[in-house]
Amino acid sequence: MKIIQDLQEMTAWSKEQTVAGKTIGFVPTMGCFHEGHLALMRQAGELAGQVVVSLFVNPTQFGPQEDLAAYPRDFARDQELAASVGVDVIFAPEPEDMYPAGCNTTVTVGKELTGQLCGASRPGHFAGVATVVSKLFNIVRPDLAVFGEKDFQQLAVIRRMTEDLNLGVEIIGHPIIREQDGLAMSSRNAYLQEAERETALSLSRALAMARTMAADGELHAESLTATLQKFILSFSGTELDYISFVDQASLQPVVEIDKDTVLALAVKINGRVRLIDNGFVAGGEK
Ligand code: PAF
Repeated sequence: MKIIQDLQEMTAWSKEQTVAGKTIGFVPTMGCFHEGHLALMRQAGELAGQVVVSLFVNPTQFGPQEDLAAYPRDFARDQELAASVGVDVIFAPEPEDMYPAGCNTTVTVGKELTGQLCGASRPGHFAGVATVVSKLFNIVRPDLAVFGEKDFQQLAVIRRMTEDLNLGVEIIGHPIIREQDGLAMSSRNAYLQEAERETALSLSRALAMARTMAADGELHAESLTATLQKFILSFSGTELDYISFVDQASLQPVVEIDKDTVLALAVKINGRVRLIDNGFVAGGEK
C-alpha cells in the first residue's frame, strides 16, 4: 500500500491508473477507522480495480465550538487496517497543502438540503464538506466514491453537488454498520465513557420503536415525534438536537410517514458527544 501526501503525486498516480485502463474507487475519510470504514473500503474494492482512501481531518467542516484538535487520530493503526482490506493508496495531505494561503473558494449546496437537520445546528459544516469533497475528487479523480449512509444528509448533499457540478463520479451509499447491540458505528463513539454507552443506545432503540409503532398503524409524524422525544429523554444525560421524519430525497419534513420517509436523529450525550442515526421506518429497506 502506498502512502501519498503530495497533491500532484496523487493526481499523477490516478492518471497512470486511468491510462492503464484501471478504475479507481475512492473512500474519503477523516481516519480513526472502524468496521464501518472498512466496509466502505471493501465495497470500493469490489466495484473498482484500485482503491484510494483519503485520510484528512478537514478543518473547514468543524465549527468554532467544535474541537478540531481533539478529533481522534491514529495514523499507524489506520494504515494497518486499510492495508488489511486491500487498499492501494492512502492519500493523507497536509492542511496547508489542501488550503494554501489565498485559497478563497467555497462550494455551497442550497439551503433546501443543508439548512435543516445537522445543517441547522452546525452552520457552515456542509459547505466545508462539499468544498473538501470536491477538491478531493479533483485531486484523486475517482470513477466512483463510497460514503456511509449514517451521514445521510452528507450523502444527499454530495449526490446533489456531484450532479450539479457534473463531477462525473458515481456516488455509492453504503448501509450503516452497527455494533451487535445496535449502536451505529462512528468515530465519535470513542468519546463515550462506559456509562454513556448505554445512553447512546437511545438512538437505535428509538428507531426500532418508530418501526414498531409504524407497523402498528401510527403514521403521523407529530405523534411519533412526541413519543420518541419522551423515550430518548428518559435516558440519563440526553439532550435532543433533532428528531425529524423527512423525505429521503428532498430531506423536507413529512406529515404522514411512508416508505420513502427517513427518521433522522441527533442526540447530545452529557453535553459532550453528539451522535446521529437514521433509517427508514415504514416498509423501507434500511
Ligand atoms: O464523513 C466524513 O468523514 C467527512 O465528512 C468527509 C466526507 C471525509 C469529508 O471530510
